[in-house]
Parts: sequence; structure tokens; C-alpha cells
Amino acid sequence: MEILDQIHQAAGRIKDQIDIMPQIGLILGSGLGALAGEVKDPVTISYGDIPHFQESTVEGHSGQLVIGLLEEKPVLVLQGRIHYYEGFTMNQVVFPVRCMKALGINSLVVTNAAGSLDTEYHPGDLMLIRDHIKMVSDSPLRGPNIDEFGPRFNDLSDPYTKDIRTMAKKCGRELGIVLKEGVYCYMPGPSYETASEVRMLKLLGGHAVGMSTVPEVITAGHAGMNVMGLSCLTNMGTGILDQPLDHSEVVETGVRVRETFISLLKRIVREWPIG
Ligand code: HPA
Repeated sequence: MEILDQIHQAAGRIKDQIDIMPQIGLILGSGLGALAGEVKDPVTISYGDIPHFQESTVEGHSGQLVIGLLEEKPVLVLQGRIHYYEGFTMNQVVFPVRCMKALGINSLVVTNAAGSLDTEYHPGDLMLIRDHIKMVSDSPLRGPNIDEFGPRFNDLSDPYTKDIRTMAKKCGRELGIVLKEGVYCYMPGPSYETASEVRMLKLLGGHAVGMSTVPEVITAGHAGMNVMGLSCLTNMGTGILDQPLDHSEVVETGVRVRETFISLLKRIVREWPIG
């Protein structure tokens, strides 16, 4: 089956189960799924019940869509994402974003857990993504272009929509939340980086490192969506501290900043210009 047919089939299955048309899509990263619990009048759909959706194999990622109202705005939340390192193809990784677009969603919020490359950025800090450096050679747009979504050669001069970042920073200030802003480096994983790789990424101008987000952002940008990326810095990058990295630290920090993360994202959704 052609990819476009798969997208319309999956989007159709979602549409059949909802009464509202979501306008903002949110992807919740490792340990950050609690925001889905804030959605009012939720309709919950397991990824397993949607054709062509894949289920995450990673601890901290539950696999369901939650559709409803967040701060009075109709949202579709992906509670848990799949990653390239799990063995999925790029097309599978970005499939949910393409379904969002097919459902008429033009705004995307992507969140993740990331390691800090900068000694000024500490575990527990939230970082708005200003730009990214892609260290993974594969691309979700490799292969025949889907002309219905966007052009063959897409522009990435403003992948994280500037006006949205300005709005998000204002929300942070109003809530008294210190919001860092920086460059996210996309590494393939699933190994954490070596200390030398962390030094390299810092030299290249990166502030955070992670194993997700960039495929979804490229796909959304290609399809003309407004995009915001938010990293929860869960640990210092390898070698910055004299200690090994552990996934439990990543999940625990996500839990520690849960309240701040939820209140910031709710405010951002409230202020998000739609329609
Ligand atoms: N590196 C890569 N991915 C991550 C990290 C890290 O240090 N922390 C959370 N996700």
C-alpha cells in the first residue's frame, strides 16, 4: 500500500472516534507523558488500534493517543513516541506526524529528554530548541517526495517557528520559569555518547543532545506546520561529570520537573495562535 493511502487510512480510523477536530499536536518524550492526564474529555486510542502505527518498546513511553481539550484548545497528544534506534524506519518514526497533518493539524509541539552539553544548563532545566544539528544521516524525507505534503527540497531556516519561540519565552517569564534556549544535537543512539562525542557536539555549537525529535520536526516543517521543541535536560552529557549515564536518571528527572513542565506547556497551548 502506498504511504499516502496508509496515512489516510490511519487518520480515518482516528477521525471515526472523535467529535472534535484537534488543532495542535503534542509529542511527549521520555518520562514526560503526564501532561496527557490534563486533557479534558479525553478520547484515548491505543497505537495498536490504529493501522500502521507502531508501538514503542522503551520504558517511559506508553503508546496511546489522547484527544480532547487542553486549556480549551482541541489537541491530539502522542503519549509516547517511537525512535529510529528501536529499529523502525524513518517513515515509521514520522508516521504519526503525517497523520496529524492529514487530520488538519498545523501546529506541533515536540518534547524530549536530553543531555546537557553546557555547564550553564543543568539537569531539571527546560530548554526551548532554537535549531538543531542532525548527526544521523538518514532522513524521513529520503525517497520519493510526497508532493501533497511539501516540496522536494524543503527550507530549514526556521525549523522551530520564531514567533512561537517568542511566545513560549513570554509564557516562561510570566510563570517565573527559567527557560533556556539552544541547539539540539540529534544522535542515533541507543548508546549514550562518548565523552569525546559530547566535547565535539559542544564545539559544534550544540547545547543539548538526544535521540529523537529531529525526524518529526523535519517532517512537520516539510508539511508547513508551525513547530515548537522543548527539551527537558535530564542529565549532564557523558564525561561532563565523573559518573556513568543511566536511563533511570533520565526518567527520574522528567518526573521531578513534571509540574513545571505541565504548567509551562499548558500556558503555551493556551497562548498558541490557531485558526
Ligand atoms: N544523550 C542522548 N540522549 C539522551 C541523553 C543523553 O545524554 N539524556 C536523555 N536522552
